[in-house]
Amino acid sequence: MGRNLTIYTPDSKTSKEEKNKIVKFLYNHLEQFGDSKSAISKSIDYAFSTEKGKGGFIIVAIDDMEPVGVLVMNKTGMSEYIPENVLVYIAVHKNYRVVKGIGRYLIEKALDISEGEIALHVEYDNKSAIKFYKRIGFSTKYIEMRLLKRSQL
Ligand SMILES: CC(C)(COP(=O)(O)OP(=O)(O)OC[C@H]1O[C@@H](n2cnc3c(N)ncnc32)[C@H](O)[C@@H]1OP(=O)(O)O)[C@@H](O)C(=O)NCCC(=O)NCCS
Repeated sequence: MGRNLTIYTPDSKTSKEEKNKIVKFLYNHLEQFGDSKSAISKSIDYAFSTEKGKGGFIIVAIDDMEPVGVLVMNKTGMSEYIPENVLVYIAVHKNYRVVKGIGRYLIEKALDISEGEIALHVEYDNKSAIKFYKRIGFSTKYIEMRLLKRSQL
């Protein structure tokens, strides 16, 4: 497969149709580790925000005119005490995983075009993604914990 990537930023956003395609792709290919379409859509809107401290980018790997991998990065607006970027979503089409290096290529491209550190969270039982992130060079510096409001319990 050729390395055909499209990068979307606040200056070069997706069309509505392209956005819908990306949301659908992530919804389907994040599988049980994914989020609702509404959550995915919000992360894309945030990536395209031009407000100070916000923004980010989306990278789409394409094969035969169709997305085969997607990465969504959001800026945090913070630095030093909190990483500058959050890798919100990454997913590669089931038929293109492991052997083709698409996930690694998406992350390497993301590293090239972002400034500062990148944080992410991954579910404990997503063993494949954990192996992937470790192979890329991510380390587990902190345990992420959350306190849900009573109304969310
Ligand atoms: C995680 C994911 C994005 C990895 O993408 P990928 O294209 O399959 O990964 P790559 O082929 O680029 O692999 C990069 C490296 O990680 C290793 N790797 C990837 N998946 C692995 C696995 N399941 N077990 C062991 N190693 C793995 C590869 O061997 C490769 O090593 P190398 O580059 O040193 O040879 C993909 O498996 C996926 O879409 N999973 C479902 C969605 C998901 O869980 N996303 C993360 C949510 S937090």
